[in-house]
Amino acid sequence: MADGIRIAPSVLSADLTRLAEHVASVLEGGADWLHVDVMDGHFVPNLTFGANMVAALRRLTERPLDVHLMVEHPQHYIGPMADAGASVLTIHPEASTHIQRDLASIRERGMLSGLALNPASPLAFVEEVIADIDLLLVMTVNPGFGGQAYLPGADDKIRRAHALLARRGGRVFLEVDGGITPATIGSAHAAGADTFVAGNAIFTGADPAAEVRELRRRCEVTV
Ligand code: DX5
Ligand code: ZN
Repeated sequence: MADGIRIAPSVLSADLTRLAEHVASVLEGGADWLHVDVMDGHFVPNLTFGANMVAALRRLTERPLDVHLMVEHPQHYIGPMADAGASVLTIHPEASTHIQRDLASIRERGMLSGLALNPASPLAFVEEVIADIDLLLVMTVNPGFGGQAYLPGADDKIRRAHALLARRGGRVFLEVDGGITPATIGSAHAAGADTFVAGNAIFTGADPAAEVRELRRRCEVTV
């Protein structure tokens, strides 16, 4: 997308005993979206939170809630996530038998539809559903946990994803997720990403607002 960049702090890495305080801090630092990682213990080997977390965050902010479903049978979560106030709902093709139908349902419920690709999943998936997506999420780690290292092949995949989306009109957000830090965000941005999820890099520091500003600054120097 041509309209600047978005920083989306992942609340997975926030201190849940101080969730409202951490959210207030990243909003003050200029976070554009809040990223919510929903894991079911089957699609990924970890269990996190569901629609109740989205509803709680919705009471804290009007900014877009970017919900990343790492679950099997994602069709069961579309209605509850819309009711809870999700703005973007992203699903993995390996988790759904009827991915096109699910993407269309997400839009019918008034949300932006996202497709997430694991590091080993081919970009060819995107070609088949390009008309049904508003966002492509390129995973830059294998999903399941915060705090992992950005994979070496990630920049090249982002570059190829960006070229594919540009050929198709450039209206789809290109988001990256996993291992985004001040050291890695510049090359991801240069490769064509425009929306950046970051968990540990933002919430493990003393001042989450400052970390959001620092990530944005690192992008701006690579323009
Ligand atoms: C990983 C999740 C990410 C995670 C990112 O499975 O999808 O959103 O929270 O965390 P960091 O930025 O710490 O890699
Ligand atoms: Zn995520």
